[in-house]
Amino acid sequence: MGILKVIDAVFHYKNFSSKEEKESRITAVDHADLSVNRGEFVGILGHNGSGKSTLARLLAGLLVPDTGYIYINGLDSRDRKNQVSIRSVAGMVFQNPDNQLIGNMVEEDIAFGPENLGIAPEEIRIRVDKALKATGMEDCRYLSPGSLSGGQKQKIAISGILAMEPECIILDEPTAMLDARGRSEVMEAIRRLNREKKITVILITHHPEELEEADRIYLMKEGKVMAAGPPSELWQKGDLLRECGSGLPFIRQLTADLRKNGIPLPEDIGEDELAVFLAGLQKGEDQ
Ligand SMILES: Nc1ncnc2c1ncn2[C@@H]1O[C@H](COP(=O)(O)OP(=O)(O)O)[C@@H](O)[C@H]1O
Ligand SMILES: [Mg+2]
Repeated sequence: MGILKVIDAVFHYKNFSSKEEKESRITAVDHADLSVNRGEFVGILGHNGSGKSTLARLLAGLLVPDTGYIYINGLDSRDRKNQVSIRSVAGMVFQNPDNQLIGNMVEEDIAFGPENLGIAPEEIRIRVDKALKATGMEDCRYLSPGSLSGGQKQKIAISGILAMEPECIILDEPTAMLDARGRSEVMEAIRRLNREKKITVILITHHPEELEEADRIYLMKEGKVMAAGPPSELWQKGDLLRECGSGLPFIRQLTADLRKNGIPLPEDIGEDELAVFLAGLQKGEDQ
């Protein structure tokens, strides 16, 4: 079995309205299936309110499904006796890096997680070194988190999770509050963790561009998984993506539109190749 497996999971939030004096139910995850193998990079794509964060919390064992099953390392998350072991499998990184950093110095922040796990100080020092190196943040070790850019803060938050040595890292829209530079810095760090450190990555986003290199993408709408497959397969479903409040990555949309206008572009053409191709067309016209 894979590291994470979701079978027909349903999760409701119950809201009590004091005005109407009755309880209402919101179905946040609606009969979802998903599976993640060790070492994979899996994306979850969907509009606001489609159930991504709820699914992330189910995958991390922070919530349990009302019906259906979540298996984390083969352990049923509804079984109370599994709670301690499953909590250490997946670490979560959230949208706002400011809420995740609490120390006066970067290294304190990173040490916080392993300290809470009761890890010995010598081992913590080794883990902090490794975690800073993994995100390329060694030079910021003695700085105050408050002095860092948004992208750097998010990389420190990721290092803090890595220092707890989870098998899998779940990132819930980690780039949502960052500028373009911060986004690309954080995305590069995430890809490296997956490729070089073989850490299983679940990336939740509403930017399809960030999932170009994913092994598989799950597309969500109203709590349901509407499609799942490798990016090349998902990018064929432009209408469905739009219906789910998402779209194609910019370059895919552009090449699709150019093809529609009779420009014969090869499938899977990259940004650089496209630029060369278009420049060639321009030159052809000029002659
Ligand atoms: N704590 C909560 N209490 C009540 N409803 C919630 C809560 N969190 C999320 N919801 C609702 O559940 C649905 C799914 O939300 P969420 O999982 O946060 O989606 P996403 O992360 O894709 O924006 C939405 O309708 C949202 O309003
Ligand atoms: Mg969310």
